[in-house]
Amino acid sequence: MYILGIESSCDETAVAVIEREPQHRVLAEQIKSQVPLHAKYGGVVPEIASRNHYEVIDQLTIEALKESGITLHQINLIALTQGPGLLGSLLTGLSFAKGLAFKNKIPVIGVDHILSHIEAAFIENREIEYPLLALVVSGGHTTLFYQKSRFDTTVVSKTRDDAVGEILDKVAKYYGLGYPGGPILDRLYKGGDTRRFRFTYPKMSDGSNDFSFSGYKTAAIRHPEFANREVKPDDPLFKDFIASFLNSVFDYLLYKTRTAVEAVQPKSVIVSGGVSRNSLLREKFSNAFTETGIKLYLSSPRYCTDNAAMVAWLGYEQYIQFPNVDYFDAQMNSYSRAFFKNDGSKFR
Ligand code: KG4
Ligand code: ZN
Repeated sequence: MYILGIESSCDETAVAVIEREPQHRVLAEQIKSQVPLHAKYGGVVPEIASRNHYEVIDQLTIEALKESGITLHQINLIALTQGPGLLGSLLTGLSFAKGLAFKNKIPVIGVDHILSHIEAAFIENREIEYPLLALVVSGGHTTLFYQKSRFDTTVVSKTRDDAVGEILDKVAKYYGLGYPGGPILDRLYKGGDTRRFRFTYPKMSDGSNDFSFSGYKTAAIRHPEFANREVKPDDPLFKDFIASFLNSVFDYLLYKTRTAVEAVQPKSVIVSGGVSRNSLLREKFSNAFTETGIKLYLSSPRYCTDNAAMVAWLGYEQYIQFPNVDYFDAQMNSYSRAFFKNDGSKFR
């Protein structure tokens, strides 16, 4: 079975062609990042994002099909990101996918963006066992999910304010380091002293295991040593500062994840989303889960950030699991959200 995946939720336009049954593999991936367009604004400008998706999406699809060696007539299913994301950007992908599907009489299915970040881990690791805990850390989300099975998902903890990727981007922007901040800080901290500066973990007054990151952001941009001063990225003290900041943020993510692991005893832990590309995060989680009997899955960098292979991968699973849904009826409001139970109370 051949599936065409389309992702356009934020600032990447991506199209992939995958094969599932009998083989399970990615045949083609085309991705166009809009980072250079948004860099001068220090963040994603929604209007620019949707216009650019609109300009490149058809050519990317042609190129993905060419790369895959599969013709449009051989495609059995089109899967697209239907949310959450920027409205105009999502609409561009949805309209394009529906038009293509309608004209060529191909079923079309909408998938949830965050669930597809979890699914990304399965592209390279089909053996992952349930139940699992998945930490999705991106520019828009910081959520811990418990999945009894693929379509039985509970939100365990989520951020009450900023997402972790968002504060990395904002701190880098504040210090004039560039955009997006996550990869820039990842390069900058290396060789720095992770213990030189102290940052304290945020605490939830109601005792829940939810996340909070706005305090981290404020602590970083109001720090007496650096606030209101022009910093030089190669200043060794600033390097120590960034190393200490990242170290504390990722220790906090690890602490929350371990608390949830103790509560639910999963067989597997997945960490996914753009921030899971970070080298310090990967090192910390890898060390923490060796010899625990719980398998940790971190994807290759290209499947951590937004991509269309993960959309196609989840689209296939949804199609197989729920064959009686009207798949020409992909909607903006997230269909797969029906699989979420928003009750984390038993994990507190
Ligand atoms: O998953 P993603 O591509 O898009 C969203 O769904 O948000 O994640 C983008 C986020 C940005 O905040 C970016 O700064 C962060 O992932 N990011 C990183 C790294 N690469 C991307 N954060 C830390 N270290 C990295 N190497
Ligand atoms: Zn994403």
